[in-house]
Amino acid sequence: MEYTANTSRYENMTYRRIGDSGLFLPEISLGLWHNFGGVDIYENAKKMILYSFDQGITHFDLANNYGPPPGSAEENFGRILNRELKQYRDEMVISTKAGYRMWPGPYGNWGSRKYLISSLDQSLQRMGLDYVDIFYHHRLDSRTKLEETLCALDSVVKQGKALYIGISRYDEETTEKAIPILNDLGTPFIIEQQRYSMFDRWLENKLLQILEEHKKGCIVFSPLAQGLLTEKYLRGIPENSRAAKSHGHLREEQVTREKLDQVTKLKEIANRRNQSISQLAISWILRHKSIASVLIGASNVDQIKENLGSLNNKEFSTEELKEINQILM
Ligand SMILES: NC(=O)c1ccc[n+]([C@@H]2O[C@H](COP(=O)([O-])OP(=O)(O)OC[C@H]3O[C@@H](n4cnc5c(N)ncnc54)[C@H](OP(=O)(O)O)[C@@H]3O)[C@@H](O)[C@H]2O)c1
Repeated sequence: MEYTANTSRYENMTYRRIGDSGLFLPEISLGLWHNFGGVDIYENAKKMILYSFDQGITHFDLANNYGPPPGSAEENFGRILNRELKQYRDEMVISTKAGYRMWPGPYGNWGSRKYLISSLDQSLQRMGLDYVDIFYHHRLDSRTKLEETLCALDSVVKQGKALYIGISRYDEETTEKAIPILNDLGTPFIIEQQRYSMFDRWLENKLLQILEEHKKGCIVFSPLAQGLLTEKYLRGIPENSRAAKSHGHLREEQVTREKLDQVTKLKEIANRRNQSISQLAISWILRHKSIASVLIGASNVDQIKENLGSLNNKEFSTEELKEINQILM
């Protein structure tokens, strides 16, 4: 029997418009990069997706290569969606991407028309979907002409396989080049996906401003710097944490004394605001009104629950922001 979702799921979530498009995202979205693959526990993945949807998280972010093994996060998500949430498909925004190595040989990587179009076909098949809501080019490809990549994105919309288009990890210069090309094509390009957290603030240099000027939206990933912006690493590297896993993308050497000292200082501010460190880190991002959504990852339901708590306190005083800047300098 299909899942029956919580009837009050929209009561406590705020939805932000993506740029000047007609599409809205929840302030917190769930990403399936880690913990939803073939190596992970299916029942845990299912619990996290159902819990999220019950809390008003309508947006789920995937990519062709999420797993491991690559493709397995899409397979698991498709299974959960089709078994449990099929009747809610139109209440969900599902995204996927292509841009990293997915299959052997010269056609399973980067940004050619050949790769992008066939990869999206494979993603749709794995997820058992007719279309995704947003299809992203996952990373810049300096070997392929930008026009070829962008025309391929335009084609998938025309083919009805994606409703909107996004780009991810593009630099400022290429983003500025891409916008007029996509506008001229009439492609519904609405969003850029970029890394942003207290530990990685490059978005503030110029990109956020470019997106604002062109009325494009932004969704940010790794808001907790993959778990560093929590209490978890203050007393060593716990078993089962991302930094301890051989397939985790957070490496042990990234857990530095300097970062942990900063986390300890941030904890004092979080305490004063009645927040955990993760809640402080997420609400600090949401102070930017042009960031449509914060894309979190999680390894269990409790983490999602805790991170959703950040929505209860999103205001910062000038003093608090100054203090945070000083810690992060
Ligand atoms: N476009 C791109 O190139 C790109 C790149 C990276 C990510 N993304 C997207 O962004 C999503 C989020 O990225 P991310 O997973 O790096 O985000 P993140 O929120 O910075 O890190 C998530 C990890 O932090 C730990 N965590 C989360 N909440 C916690 C809490 N309350 N207490 C303690 N630990 C907590 C968990 O790791 P443990 O396993 O240690 O518990 C969790 O898996 C991805 O799933 C993906 O959809 C996109």
